[in-house]
Amino acid sequence: MSERTLSIIKPDAVERNVTGAILKMIQDEGLKVVAMKMIHMTKEQAQGFYAVHRERPFFDSLTDFMCSGPVVVSVLEGDGAIARYRKLMGATNPENADEGTIRKQFALDVEKNSVHGSDGVETAAVEISYFFNRLEMVG
Ligand code: CMP
Repeated sequence: MSERTLSIIKPDAVERNVTGAILKMIQDEGLKVVAMKMIHMTKEQAQGFYAVHRERPFFDSLTDFMCSGPVVVSVLEGDGAIARYRKLMGATNPENADEGTIRKQFALDVEKNSVHGSDGVETAAVEISYFFNRLEMVG
């Protein structure tokens, strides 16, 4: 079934100029980019995006990091896009990420882990609408 998922290329990856290399891995996997933009979030915007994690001990550090520089947000489309993108990203902690995954190749640690992807159908809908309106997506 065709799905859409939200991808964020995080500040650590944008800063190291590997945005293009990550997008190439996404496109080589066959996922189609149907919306994309570069933004620099405020602390409040990052806190809003990660609101489900607000009780976690890493929330303040995570939201500081996510507004420390620009990110590239995109909407990816394809059959089973949510699971396929999660597989392509690899484990949250790069120490546990498989060979051939984005995080194995680019992530620095569990926080500076280069990419984010939605973890389910409902989350994807909420996350996509956090950054994009209908007019900003093709198809
Ligand atoms: P992400 O997929 O963006 O979702 C939540 C983020 O919290 C996660 O990736 C990590 O970058 C970040 N994070 C920071 N510390 C931890 C931790 N100890 N466990 C899980 N996630 C963490």
